[in-house]
Amino acid sequence: MLYLMLLLAYLLGSIPSGLIIGKVFYNTDIREHGSGNLGGTNTFRTLGKKAGFVVTLLDILKGTAATILPYIFTVNTTNWPDWVALPLVCGLLAVVGHMYPVFAGFRGGKAVATSGGILLGYVPDLFLILLVCFLISLFTTRIVSLSSMIISVVAIIYVMFTNDLSLQILIICLAIFIFYRHRANIKRIINKTEPKVNLFNKKK
Ligand code: G3P
Repeated sequence: MLYLMLLLAYLLGSIPSGLIIGKVFYNTDIREHGSGNLGGTNTFRTLGKKAGFVVTLLDILKGTAATILPYIFTVNTTNWPDWVALPLVCGLLAVVGHMYPVFAGFRGGKAVATSGGILLGYVPDLFLILLVCFLISLFTTRIVSLSSMIISVVAIIYVMFTNDLSLQILIICLAIFIFYRHRANIKRIINKTEPKVNLFNKKK
């Protein structure tokens, strides 16, 4: 039952919201446009605000839903160390699914929204803090990728002040994933070629 639940967490994360919304409603594979990323930002960029918002929300909910799985499945974890929080393991697997989705040729997103979804389910306070920091950063820099990486660092600083080892490990893993998946963005930020968003664009 435990392994079935872990597999389900990965499969949940693998649901390619951006691909489904893009193909079904716009006949577009967003991975062939913009940054090529299968995430909310590239959906905003390619298909507009409505689609971008829906995809971001669905990607967040994948992470939240994964953290709820252990409460649905009653699994035997007697052999697990005390500090291993099963909701966080499920959330992490959902993020792996989101980045490398079996349903979309393993070409997925950059981990940000689904990671946020785990925090929404497990530590909503931290989710809200990061959301506020993200918006401040976005309105200041107008660069989504930079804002995503900034809140990863904020999350690390936050967990350093907690005693929750499993949360600390989760945040470190998520930050590694996020920075790794933003390699191309980091190069563009350094070269000053990373696209900025027009937050007040009324089109679409
Ligand atoms: O959440 C992904 C975002 O940080 C960057 O996306 O499409 O600009 O590479 P993108």
